[in-house]
Amino acid sequence: MILNQWYAIASSKEVKNDKVLGLKRLNLELVLYRENGKVKVLEDKCCHRGAALSKGKKVNNCIQCPFHGIEFAGDGSSKYIPAEGKAFQKSLNRFKVKSYQVVEQDGIIFIWYGDEEPTIQPPHFEVIRNSNLKMKEKTDVWNAHYSRVIENQLDTIHLPFVHHNTIGRGNKTLVNGPKVTWIDENTLQTSANNDLDNGQQPLKPEESIIKDTNLTFKYPNIWLNHVSDKILIMIFFAPIDDSNTKLYLRFYNSITGIGIVDSIISWFGKFANNIVQKQDKRVVITQKPKASGLKVGEKLLVGDKPIIEYRKRREELKNIKKNDIES
Ligand code: FES
Ligand SMILES: [Fe+2]
Repeated sequence: MILNQWYAIASSKEVKNDKVLGLKRLNLELVLYRENGKVKVLEDKCCHRGAALSKGKKVNNCIQCPFHGIEFAGDGSSKYIPAEGKAFQKSLNRFKVKSYQVVEQDGIIFIWYGDEEPTIQPPHFEVIRNSNLKMKEKTDVWNAHYSRVIENQLDTIHLPFVHHNTIGRGNKTLVNGPKVTWIDENTLQTSANNDLDNGQQPLKPEESIIKDTNLTFKYPNIWLNHVSDKILIMIFFAPIDDSNTKLYLRFYNSITGIGIVDSIISWFGKFANNIVQKQDKRVVITQKPKASGLKVGEKLLVGDKPIIEYRKRREELKNIKKNDIES
Protein backbone atom coordinates (compact mmCIF):
# COMPACT_ATOMS: atom_id res chain seq x y z
CA MET A 1 0.00 0.00 0.00
CA ILE A 2 1.06 3.59 -0.49
CA LEU A 3 1.18 5.51 2.77
CA ASN A 4 -0.62 8.84 3.23
CA GLN A 5 -3.32 8.37 0.63
CA TRP A 6 -7.11 8.39 0.54
CA TYR A 7 -8.16 4.89 -0.49
CA ALA A 8 -11.64 4.12 -1.83
CA ILE A 9 -12.66 1.13 0.28
CA ALA A 10 -16.40 0.62 -0.02
CA SER A 11 -19.65 1.73 -1.56
CA SER A 12 -21.92 3.99 0.51
CA LYS A 13 -24.85 1.64 0.12
CA GLU A 14 -22.97 -1.10 1.98
CA VAL A 15 -23.14 0.85 5.24
CA LYS A 16 -26.74 0.85 6.43
CA ASN A 17 -28.05 3.21 9.06
CA ASP A 18 -28.96 0.57 11.61
CA LYS A 19 -26.17 -1.97 11.19
CA VAL A 20 -22.45 -2.32 11.79
CA LEU A 21 -20.31 -3.77 9.03
CA GLY A 22 -17.01 -5.62 9.34
CA LEU A 23 -14.65 -5.27 6.38
CA LYS A 24 -11.08 -6.23 5.69
CA ARG A 25 -9.35 -3.52 3.69
CA LEU A 26 -5.70 -2.48 3.27
CA ASN A 27 -4.68 -5.47 5.42
CA LEU A 28 -6.72 -3.96 8.27
CA GLU A 29 -9.74 -5.40 10.05
CA LEU A 30 -12.24 -2.53 10.11
CA VAL A 31 -15.73 -1.89 11.37
CA LEU A 32 -17.99 0.68 9.72
CA TYR A 33 -21.23 2.22 10.91
CA ARG A 34 -23.18 5.46 10.67
CA GLU A 35 -23.21 7.95 13.55
CA ASN A 36 -26.00 10.45 12.86
CA GLY A 37 -25.86 9.33 9.24
CA LYS A 38 -22.09 9.92 8.90
CA VAL A 39 -19.87 6.95 8.15
CA LYS A 40 -17.36 6.14 10.86
CA VAL A 41 -14.54 3.63 10.60
CA LEU A 42 -12.85 2.00 13.59
CA GLU A 43 -10.42 -0.81 14.13
CA ASP A 44 -12.49 -3.96 14.47
CA LYS A 45 -11.05 -4.90 17.84
CA CYS A 46 -12.38 -3.95 21.23
CA CYS A 47 -9.72 -2.47 23.50
CA HIS A 48 -11.16 -4.32 26.49
CA ARG A 49 -10.52 -7.95 25.60
CA GLY A 50 -10.14 -8.00 21.85
CA ALA A 51 -13.56 -9.07 20.57
CA ALA A 52 -14.61 -8.00 17.06
CA LEU A 53 -16.84 -4.93 17.31
CA SER A 54 -18.40 -5.89 13.98
CA LYS A 55 -20.21 -8.70 15.84
CA GLY A 56 -21.84 -6.07 18.02
CA LYS A 57 -24.66 -3.70 17.23
CA LYS A 58 -25.54 -0.06 17.03
CA VAL A 59 -26.83 1.27 20.37
CA ASN A 60 -27.20 4.95 21.37
CA ASN A 61 -25.44 6.05 18.13
CA CYS A 62 -22.43 3.98 19.23
CA ILE A 63 -21.12 0.52 18.47
CA GLN A 64 -21.83 -1.77 21.38
CA CYS A 65 -19.21 -4.49 21.81
CA PRO A 66 -20.83 -7.94 21.67
CA PHE A 67 -18.78 -9.26 24.60
CA HIS A 68 -19.28 -6.99 27.63
CA GLY A 69 -21.31 -4.21 26.09
CA ILE A 70 -18.87 -1.28 26.12
CA GLU A 71 -20.16 1.42 23.78
CA PHE A 72 -17.77 3.22 21.42
CA ALA A 73 -18.50 6.42 19.50
CA GLY A 74 -17.34 7.13 15.95
CA ASP A 75 -14.12 8.77 17.13
CA GLY A 76 -13.24 5.56 18.99
CA SER A 77 -13.86 6.93 22.48
CA SER A 78 -15.87 4.87 24.94
CA LYS A 79 -19.13 6.35 26.19
CA TYR A 80 -20.39 3.71 28.55
CA ILE A 81 -18.93 0.71 30.41
CA PRO A 82 -21.92 -1.29 31.67
CA ALA A 83 -19.95 -3.32 34.23
CA GLU A 84 -18.90 -0.12 35.98
CA GLY A 85 -22.34 1.40 35.91
CA LYS A 86 -23.76 4.64 34.58
CA ALA A 87 -22.45 6.61 37.56
CA PHE A 88 -18.86 5.52 37.02
CA GLN A 89 -17.09 7.63 34.40
CA LYS A 90 -13.46 7.40 35.50
CA SER A 91 -12.35 4.63 33.16
CA LEU A 92 -13.84 6.09 30.00
CA ASN A 93 -10.67 7.88 28.95
CA ARG A 94 -8.64 4.70 29.16
CA PHE A 95 -10.88 2.90 26.70
CA LYS A 96 -10.31 4.03 23.16
CA VAL A 97 -10.32 2.19 19.85
CA LYS A 98 -8.33 3.38 16.84
CA SER A 99 -10.45 5.39 14.42
CA TYR A 100 -9.81 6.39 10.80
CA GLN A 101 -10.57 9.61 8.97
CA VAL A 102 -13.38 9.13 6.49
CA VAL A 103 -14.79 11.01 3.51
CA GLU A 104 -17.92 9.90 1.73
CA GLN A 105 -18.37 11.35 -1.76
CA ASP A 106 -19.91 10.18 -5.04
CA GLY A 107 -21.32 7.18 -3.17
CA ILE A 108 -17.82 6.02 -2.26
CA ILE A 109 -16.27 5.70 1.19
CA PHE A 110 -12.64 6.77 1.41
CA ILE A 111 -10.36 6.32 4.41
CA TRP A 112 -7.07 8.05 5.09
CA TYR A 113 -4.30 5.46 5.16
CA GLY A 114 -1.39 7.28 6.70
CA ASP A 115 0.73 8.33 9.59
CA GLU A 116 0.31 12.07 8.95
CA GLU A 117 -2.72 14.36 8.81
CA PRO A 118 -4.26 14.55 5.31
CA THR A 119 -3.05 17.48 3.23
CA ILE A 120 -5.03 16.44 0.15
CA GLN A 121 -8.64 15.67 -0.71
CA PRO A 122 -9.76 12.23 -1.89
CA PRO A 123 -9.58 11.88 -5.68
CA HIS A 124 -12.72 12.19 -7.79
CA PHE A 125 -13.89 12.38 -11.40
CA GLU A 126 -15.89 15.52 -12.06
CA VAL A 127 -17.72 13.95 -15.04
CA ILE A 128 -19.55 11.41 -12.92
CA ARG A 129 -21.12 14.24 -10.90
CA ASN A 130 -23.46 15.00 -13.80
CA SER A 131 -26.88 14.39 -12.26
CA ASN A 132 -28.32 13.09 -15.57
CA LEU A 133 -26.13 10.00 -15.38
CA LYS A 134 -27.77 6.81 -14.13
CA MET A 135 -25.47 4.34 -12.44
CA LYS A 136 -25.55 0.65 -11.63
CA GLU A 137 -22.83 -1.13 -9.71
CA LYS A 138 -21.53 -4.65 -9.57
CA THR A 139 -18.76 -5.97 -7.36
CA ASP A 140 -16.31 -8.82 -7.66
CA VAL A 141 -13.40 -10.10 -5.58
CA TRP A 142 -10.22 -11.09 -7.38
CA ASN A 143 -7.41 -13.12 -5.91
CA ALA A 144 -4.90 -10.51 -7.11
CA HIS A 145 -2.94 -7.60 -5.68
CA TYR A 146 -4.68 -4.33 -6.50
CA SER A 147 -1.63 -3.05 -8.43
CA ARG A 148 -2.05 -5.92 -10.91
CA VAL A 149 -5.75 -5.24 -11.28
CA ILE A 150 -5.09 -1.55 -11.97
CA GLU A 151 -2.38 -2.31 -14.50
CA ASN A 152 -4.77 -4.57 -16.34
CA GLN A 153 -7.12 -1.60 -16.79
CA LEU A 154 -4.29 0.40 -18.37
CA ASP A 155 -3.18 -2.42 -20.67
CA THR A 156 -4.08 -2.00 -24.33
CA ILE A 157 -1.95 -4.90 -25.61
CA HIS A 158 -4.20 -7.54 -24.10
CA LEU A 159 -7.39 -6.43 -25.83
CA PRO A 160 -7.33 -8.69 -28.94
CA PHE A 161 -6.31 -11.71 -26.87
CA VAL A 162 -8.19 -11.57 -23.58
CA HIS A 163 -11.20 -9.87 -25.17
CA HIS A 164 -11.05 -11.42 -28.66
CA ASN A 165 -14.84 -11.86 -28.74
CA THR A 166 -15.91 -8.72 -26.82
CA ILE A 167 -14.22 -5.30 -26.62
CA GLY A 168 -11.11 -6.58 -28.43
CA ARG A 169 -12.83 -7.99 -31.51
CA GLY A 170 -11.19 -7.42 -34.88
CA ASN A 171 -7.69 -8.83 -34.34
CA LYS A 172 -6.06 -5.39 -33.93
CA THR A 173 -2.87 -6.78 -32.48
CA LEU A 174 -0.51 -3.97 -33.48
CA VAL A 175 -0.26 -1.43 -30.69
CA ASN A 176 0.29 2.21 -31.65
CA GLY A 177 1.72 4.22 -28.77
CA PRO A 178 0.05 4.21 -26.41
CA LYS A 179 0.36 7.85 -25.56
CA VAL A 180 0.33 8.68 -21.85
CA THR A 181 -0.58 12.14 -20.59
CA TRP A 182 -0.30 13.30 -17.01
CA ILE A 183 -3.31 15.49 -16.18
CA ASP A 184 -1.76 16.24 -12.81
CA GLU A 185 0.95 14.56 -10.77
CA ASN A 186 -1.40 11.81 -9.61
CA THR A 187 -3.64 11.43 -12.68
CA LEU A 188 -2.61 9.67 -15.86
CA GLN A 189 -4.55 9.30 -19.07
CA THR A 190 -4.10 6.95 -21.98
CA SER A 191 -6.11 5.36 -24.75
CA ALA A 192 -6.02 2.29 -26.95
CA ASN A 193 -5.00 2.98 -30.51
CA ASN A 194 -4.55 -0.53 -31.86
CA ASP A 195 -4.45 -1.50 -35.52
CA LEU A 196 -4.50 -4.45 -37.88
CA ASP A 197 -0.97 -5.63 -38.49
CA ASN A 198 -0.28 -5.15 -42.19
CA GLY A 199 3.45 -5.11 -41.73
CA GLN A 200 3.63 -1.40 -40.85
CA GLN A 201 5.65 0.01 -37.95
CA PRO A 202 3.58 0.90 -34.90
CA LEU A 203 3.38 4.60 -34.07
CA LYS A 204 5.63 5.69 -31.24
CA PRO A 205 3.94 6.92 -28.03
CA GLU A 206 4.65 10.56 -28.92
CA GLU A 207 3.17 10.07 -32.43
CA SER A 208 0.06 8.46 -31.03
CA ILE A 209 -3.06 10.21 -29.73
CA ILE A 210 -5.44 10.21 -26.79
CA LYS A 211 -8.83 9.45 -28.29
CA ASP A 212 -12.26 10.56 -27.03
CA THR A 213 -12.57 7.03 -25.71
CA ASN A 214 -9.86 7.05 -23.09
CA LEU A 215 -8.79 5.78 -19.71
CA THR A 216 -7.96 7.95 -16.72
CA PHE A 217 -6.42 6.68 -13.52
CA LYS A 218 -6.07 8.55 -10.25
CA TYR A 219 -3.83 7.30 -7.47
CA PRO A 220 -4.17 5.35 -5.41
CA ASN A 221 -7.12 3.30 -6.71
CA ILE A 222 -9.83 4.86 -8.90
CA TRP A 223 -10.18 4.56 -12.69
CA LEU A 224 -12.49 5.88 -15.37
CA ASN A 225 -13.17 4.66 -18.88
CA HIS A 226 -14.61 7.60 -20.83
CA VAL A 227 -16.39 5.63 -23.54
CA SER A 228 -18.27 8.74 -24.69
CA ASP A 229 -19.83 11.80 -23.05
CA LYS A 230 -22.90 9.67 -22.35
CA ILE A 231 -21.30 6.39 -21.34
CA LEU A 232 -18.75 6.12 -18.53
CA ILE A 233 -17.36 3.14 -16.70
CA MET A 234 -15.73 3.72 -13.36
CA ILE A 235 -13.97 1.19 -11.17
CA PHE A 236 -12.44 1.50 -7.77
CA PHE A 237 -10.12 -1.22 -6.64
CA ALA A 238 -10.41 -1.73 -2.89
CA PRO A 239 -7.39 -3.64 -1.59
CA ILE A 240 -8.47 -6.32 0.87
CA ASP A 241 -4.95 -7.55 1.60
CA ASP A 242 -1.77 -8.27 -0.36
CA SER A 243 -3.45 -10.99 -2.42
CA ASN A 244 -7.08 -9.93 -2.81
CA THR A 245 -8.91 -6.96 -4.26
CA LYS A 246 -12.58 -6.08 -4.39
CA LEU A 247 -13.60 -4.35 -7.61
CA TYR A 248 -16.53 -1.96 -7.58
CA LEU A 249 -17.59 -1.70 -11.23
CA ARG A 250 -19.91 1.16 -12.06
CA PHE A 251 -21.69 1.70 -15.33
CA TYR A 252 -23.01 5.24 -15.92
CA ASN A 253 -25.04 6.50 -18.86
CA SER A 254 -27.33 9.31 -19.97
CA ILE A 255 -27.99 7.95 -23.46
CA THR A 256 -31.70 8.76 -23.76
CA GLY A 257 -31.96 11.43 -21.06
CA ILE A 258 -35.02 9.57 -19.75
CA GLY A 259 -34.16 8.46 -16.20
CA ILE A 260 -35.96 5.14 -16.12
CA VAL A 261 -34.70 4.09 -19.56
CA ASP A 262 -31.12 5.06 -18.74
CA SER A 263 -31.35 3.12 -15.48
CA ILE A 264 -32.34 0.03 -17.43
CA ILE A 265 -29.50 0.60 -19.88
CA SER A 266 -27.05 0.84 -16.97
CA TRP A 267 -28.51 -2.33 -15.51
CA PHE A 268 -27.66 -4.17 -18.74
CA GLY A 269 -24.38 -2.28 -18.94
CA LYS A 270 -23.20 -3.57 -15.60
CA PHE A 271 -23.64 -7.15 -16.78
CA ALA A 272 -21.82 -6.51 -20.05
CA ASN A 273 -19.09 -4.90 -17.98
CA ASN A 274 -18.95 -7.96 -15.80
CA ILE A 275 -18.48 -10.31 -18.77
CA VAL A 276 -15.48 -8.27 -19.89
CA GLN A 277 -14.01 -8.17 -16.38
CA LYS A 278 -14.40 -11.93 -15.98
CA GLN A 279 -12.23 -12.36 -19.08
CA ASP A 280 -9.57 -10.20 -17.42
CA LYS A 281 -9.87 -11.91 -14.05
CA ARG A 282 -9.18 -15.35 -15.51
CA VAL A 283 -5.70 -14.22 -16.55
CA VAL A 284 -4.76 -11.52 -14.02
CA ILE A 285 -5.16 -13.83 -11.02
CA THR A 286 -2.41 -16.02 -12.51
CA GLN A 287 0.24 -13.25 -12.63
CA LYS A 288 3.39 -13.74 -10.60
CA PRO A 289 4.62 -12.18 -8.44
CA LYS A 290 1.35 -11.11 -6.87
CA ALA A 291 2.24 -7.41 -6.55
CA SER A 292 3.69 -5.43 -9.44
CA GLY A 293 6.67 -3.13 -9.08
CA LEU A 294 9.55 -1.54 -10.92
CA LYS A 295 11.88 -4.44 -10.28
CA VAL A 296 9.85 -7.59 -10.62
CA GLY A 297 12.00 -9.03 -13.41
CA GLU A 298 9.53 -8.56 -16.29
CA LYS A 299 10.53 -7.81 -19.89
CA LEU A 300 8.32 -4.93 -20.90
CA LEU A 301 7.30 -3.68 -24.35
CA VAL A 302 6.86 -0.16 -25.75
CA GLY A 303 3.12 -0.87 -25.59
CA ASP A 304 3.43 -1.30 -21.82
CA LYS A 305 4.12 2.42 -21.43
CA PRO A 306 1.00 3.16 -19.32
CA ILE A 307 1.99 0.35 -16.98
CA ILE A 308 5.59 1.56 -16.75
CA GLU A 309 4.39 5.08 -15.93
CA TYR A 310 1.96 3.71 -13.34
CA ARG A 311 4.76 1.77 -11.68
CA LYS A 312 7.18 4.70 -11.65
CA ARG A 313 4.78 7.08 -9.96
CA ARG A 314 3.61 4.41 -7.54
CA GLU A 315 7.23 3.82 -6.55
CA GLU A 316 7.77 7.57 -6.09
CA LEU A 317 4.71 7.88 -3.89
CA LYS A 318 5.80 4.92 -1.81
CA ASN A 319 9.26 6.44 -1.39
CA ILE A 320 8.21 9.98 -0.48
CA LYS A 321 7.91 9.03 3.15
CA LYS A 322 11.23 7.18 3.19
CA ASN A 323 13.07 10.15 1.66
CA ASP A 324 11.48 12.52 4.15
CA ILE A 325 12.88 10.45 6.96
CA GLU A 326 16.34 10.24 5.39
CA SER A 327 16.66 13.95 4.57
S1 FES B 1 -14.21 -7.33 24.80
FE1 FES B 1 -15.41 -5.66 24.26
S2 FES B 1 -16.46 -5.11 26.03
FE2 FES B 1 -15.18 -6.75 26.61
FE1 LIG C 1 -9.26 -6.21 -20.09
